[in-house]
Amino acid sequence: MGRSNKLEKARAYEKQKAAKIGAADRPAFHLTPYVGWMNDPNGFSLYKGQYHLFYQYYPYDTSWGPMHWGHAVSRDLLHWEYLPCAMANDEDYDRNGVFSGSAIELPDGRQLLIYTGVREEKIKGRKSRVRQTQCVAVGDGVNYKKYGGNPVITGRQLPEGASREDFRDPKIVQAEDGSYLCYVGSRPADGSGQILVYESSDGFQWKFRNVLIENRNRVGRMWECPDVFALDGKTVLFTSPQDIRADQLEGLTGNCGIAIVGTIDPGTGELCEEWIQPMDCGIDFYAQQSVQTADGRRVMIGWMQNWDACGERNPEQKWFGQMSLPREIHIRNGRIYQTPVRELDACRKQAVKAADLPVNGCVRLPGVSGRIVDLNMKVRPDATDGFSTFELRFAENEDGTQYCSLTYDRRNGTLSISRLHSGTCRALLHERTCHVACTDSLHLRVILDRFSAEVFVNDGEQTMSMAYYTDMKADGISFHVDGAARLDLEKYELAF
Ligand code: FRU
Repeated sequence: MGRSNKLEKARAYEKQKAAKIGAADRPAFHLTPYVGWMNDPNGFSLYKGQYHLFYQYYPYDTSWGPMHWGHAVSRDLLHWEYLPCAMANDEDYDRNGVFSGSAIELPDGRQLLIYTGVREEKIKGRKSRVRQTQCVAVGDGVNYKKYGGNPVITGRQLPEGASREDFRDPKIVQAEDGSYLCYVGSRPADGSGQILVYESSDGFQWKFRNVLIENRNRVGRMWECPDVFALDGKTVLFTSPQDIRADQLEGLTGNCGIAIVGTIDPGTGELCEEWIQPMDCGIDFYAQQSVQTADGRRVMIGWMQNWDACGERNPEQKWFGQMSLPREIHIRNGRIYQTPVRELDACRKQAVKAADLPVNGCVRLPGVSGRIVDLNMKVRPDATDGFSTFELRFAENEDGTQYCSLTYDRRNGTLSISRLHSGTCRALLHERTCHVACTDSLHLRVILDRFSAEVFVNDGEQTMSMAYYTDMKADGISFHVDGAARLDLEKYELAF
């Protein structure tokens, strides 16, 4: 397969540079870029017995640059093996970037990648303009060849008034009759967002079909990174709106991955929306995509960073950006619930358990520390006395001056995740708070992996994710209770 100089250069560069990154300088089980920069998950799929996860990638710097697709594979969604860079921006139609997209297996056994090609056009005497088109490449799971007929969906196939500049992130799915549908993010004339549906019999020739749903400026503006799938009798649309205001989505602002859940009208093909929920209420989570596992589970993965807070980083690190834990999703009680993939359970070692432990003031427990940890807690007020706040500190340094925290405020029924006191010197978003169901017993599962915390609240009714890049020596865990609480605790080391 003829490979371009740009791709060869990226492959040689990443191999050489990645060899200098020690395993202990990366998370143990969260995927990071081979080297350089990573954003959105792309092409999350099952192909020939392995999970493939591609990602938005710029190998040459730890900041965003002309996008490539990085590539990794796994059999259990936790142990990832790097494969060579899958695509570079080496064609005229994608010279400014190979943006996000998806993957599917073709009937002949080849893997099809569909992505957005970005091309900036300079027009004499005028401001340059950007064109985004949808393009495909076909390969064997390692090497891919861009299709000679690219781009396969262009601005000419947009509904009237839609922007040719904001037209991206195709997600391909196979319909029951074997044909293909493709969902693409778009900006209609109102400056807001919408999701478009295209159809094809072979994955190469595409036709506009309908508008799946319009944002009408309800949640942010442009809607990026769509994914559409059936889940527990409903249809779920994942999308990631930009520019969200606090009054639009449970107090969250900026870029947030959301789910819109409803049913498809068989006549119009439109999504009749029943509810919208954020897919994470922490600081760092965006652009989630899903895959169906061989045993039928729907598993989601997101980019565990925040566009506006990428300044929170360790400048010494040779990589930046990480994926979230893959999470199984289900609908219960009119809501999507999330749990860490069950494959994680096999990695739990060295249990430390305590039941009905009275905690008040500051408590440290023997055997409870570490940066690669699965911590399960049930917190309830002591029968005689209650508590107002219960705070878990983690990634805590030796003298307790620097730490991350998770604080349950029982009176207000809120949970806050924070890296404000982690030692950061940056003036960015460092804390987020969400309302949690005020039960007598709050259930928290906290998964730590060197540079991140993911919190699953009340069996995954809500999640809060946060990245932090602090010194690995800060591995303390402590409990701080204002009042008297009772704690059931199970703590495991996670070993890989
Ligand atoms: C989302 C996004 C996508 C785009 C990609 C570019 O984070 O803006 O819409 O394809 O990142 O890297």
